[in-house]
Amino acid sequence: MRSRFEGWCAVIEVKTLSAYEILDSRGQPTISVVLELTNGVVARSGVPSGASTGSQEAVELRDGDLMRYAGRGVLRAVEHINGEVAGHLCGRDFASLADLDEALLKLDGTANKERIGANAIIGVSMAAARAFAETEGRSLWRSLTPGGVEPRLPVPHFNIVNGGAHAPNSLDFQEFMIAPLGARNFAEAVRAGAEIYRVLRGELQSRSLGVGLGDEGGFAPEIGSPEAVLELLVDAIESAGYETGFDGVMIALDPAANGFYRDGMYHVDGEKLSSDQMVERYFEMIERFPIWSLEDGLAENDRDGWLHLTDRLSEYVQLVGDDLLVTNPTIIAEAIERKMGNAALIKPNQIGTVTETLEAMRICRDAGWSQMVSHRSGETIDSFIADLAVGAGCGQIKSGAPARGERVAKYNRLIEIEATNALPYGRAK
Ligand code: PGA
Ligand code: ZN
Repeated sequence: MRSRFEGWCAVIEVKTLSAYEILDSRGQPTISVVLELTNGVVARSGVPSGASTGSQEAVELRDGDLMRYAGRGVLRAVEHINGEVAGHLCGRDFASLADLDEALLKLDGTANKERIGANAIIGVSMAAARAFAETEGRSLWRSLTPGGVEPRLPVPHFNIVNGGAHAPNSLDFQEFMIAPLGARNFAEAVRAGAEIYRVLRGELQSRSLGVGLGDEGGFAPEIGSPEAVLELLVDAIESAGYETGFDGVMIALDPAANGFYRDGMYHVDGEKLSSDQMVERYFEMIERFPIWSLEDGLAENDRDGWLHLTDRLSEYVQLVGDDLLVTNPTIIAEAIERKMGNAALIKPNQIGTVTETLEAMRICRDAGWSQMVSHRSGETIDSFIADLAVGAGCGQIKSGAPARGERVAKYNRLIEIEATNALPYGRAK
């Protein structure tokens, strides 16, 4: 059944490749891929999809046929997989995932994967990564671990209040996350997240604020002020019996500032702030609340603002670039050079292959930048990012609230990895 081995390096031969259109967690079409090898291995993947996307992301191919799913169908991308991608890969040997991904890039031939579609390409790449791991007889996370890197269980960042593009409320900031940095292990971190989530629900109810959910499973109460949400979060952490701090639970923000940046100003809770004023607002929040990480605090086009933000805040908090960096190795290298931020969000579908994702993470590691592996707001039950986070040893992941199946699939996979392997927990040092 097994194919040829060279140490850990398996050679795989693709037998069949197929894809079909499924639904993501928002009820929108996405892609499911099935890859079969001649050695009998069958590997699958489900492709995630974002709602608040960076302008430089690899192109997600949508049909645009308004008679189906309001134009959001992915049948063209599916046909590309079943047709030319299958034709290109089937019957061929690949000695590594990098080789296979390279073949995909060459076949597409565009800089941003717009021809075949990054959603099609990442689906094949993720299934192929699993096929290699399975052929090697290793767990996916182990097969994704680069030489010299210590795998570890990441600190989960539970997004428990949703706003911005992920909820219909009037909250401009997109994500309010709790991060149990001081937990003993991953299972205890999950417990803290779930207990605080439950207490927060009760507190929202007692204040007659809604307990409806946003796209990532966090509550979407009708609150406009980010500071008011932060107060609620600190109350919930403490009422659940936890302490704030690096030995306890900290807060991470993803305002996703692209979403409230208009005409050169930041529109927050009815106020219009300049870039400098926005940075000072963050400074005050960081002084007042136990915030340890700030993602996309400014818009991707506000590049001077990012330089100022980094200058002003990098000694106090992690400054994560998501829409700014889009998991793109070239863009990340440039940001490192220019000192824009000090950490990268890592979303495989933003760049479109697993190999390029690993390259983005390597560049960060080499520069001493932190990385946070991330889901998308539209998800499937595929838990690929859980293995990616462990294997890359970056020590941070965000996968939404500790609720809703597609979010919990990742956290549960991490619980499984921890239960069956002796691995350290926490941020990479
Ligand atoms: P998205 O947002 O998946 O909707 O793009 C997630 C994020 O901004 O981190
Ligand atoms: Zn983000």
